Amino acid sequence: MKIIMLGAPGAGKGTQAKRIADKYSIPHISTGDIFRANIKNGTELGKKAKTYMDQGLLVPDELVVDLVVDRFKEADCANGYVLDGFPRTIPQAEALDTALTAIGESVDYAVNVEVPDSNIVARMSGRRACLNCGATYHLEHIPTKVEGICDVCGSEIVLREDDKPETVLNRLKVYHDQTQPLIDYYTKKGILKEVDGTKDMAEVFDAIIAILEK
Ligand code: AP5
Ligand code: MG
Repeated sequence: MKIIMLGAPGAGKGTQAKRIADKYSIPHISTGDIFRANIKNGTELGKKAKTYMDQGLLVPDELVVDLVVDRFKEADCANGYVLDGFPRTIPQAEALDTALTAIGESVDYAVNVEVPDSNIVARMSGRRACLNCGATYHLEHIPTKVEGICDVCGSEIVLREDDKPETVLNRLKVYHDQTQPLIDYYTKKGILKEVDGTKDMAEVFDAIIAILEK
């Protein structure tokens, strides 16, 4: 099963992608997490990506596409995967289609987690992320057991640099300009599925599973 998660920054793509990946034992591939790991490890890619990410801008397509295409050719992707945060532009979607067609495959579902902009800023300012293992929390909705400490790996959890309110507004603008057109793109392909992302996390998950198991 190959699934793309679509939605604005903070819509809950990562939260739901992790749960889907666990349920079906398939990898969760988050380009944002890959870039953050590269930043943490001080790689060349991380240095380049950081200059865009800190401003809420997209990393250029040429730095993203090969990274994902190489990743989904790995052995653990044989039964499918959940793509979270990719594709994010029409050229990325076209590059994905080209790469999949070349190996006789295609995406099964593009799930759009719909949340209005008005909810997003509040969600992001409450989010806390573990930069060590990628786990995410929310001060109100998913608190850690020990304040400020990741439940999974015991590292400190932080407010992501790009979750500061002024950067979130920029990310929303970039989303509407460059990523939202993918909704039309996948609607035309007949694989777009919509879920209401304002419901609580368990309800959103149930709605996604109902779609995948229909
Ligand atoms: P990325 O890491 O992908 O960030 P994003 O798309 O902006 O999305 P987020 O991770 O912020 O939100 P999410 O939808 O995963 O929400 P989450 O589940 O955490 O990308 C970061 C940057 O990397 C980009 O800005 C760009 O620069 C670069 N980049 C990445 N991919 C790229 C690409 N393909 N091309 C170019 N550049 C790229 O949830 C948010 C919060 O809400 C959490 O605290 C969560 O606990 C809470 N929450 C979730 N669901 C609910 C719910 N139902 N009710 C209440 N709270 C909820
Ligand atoms: Mg995410």
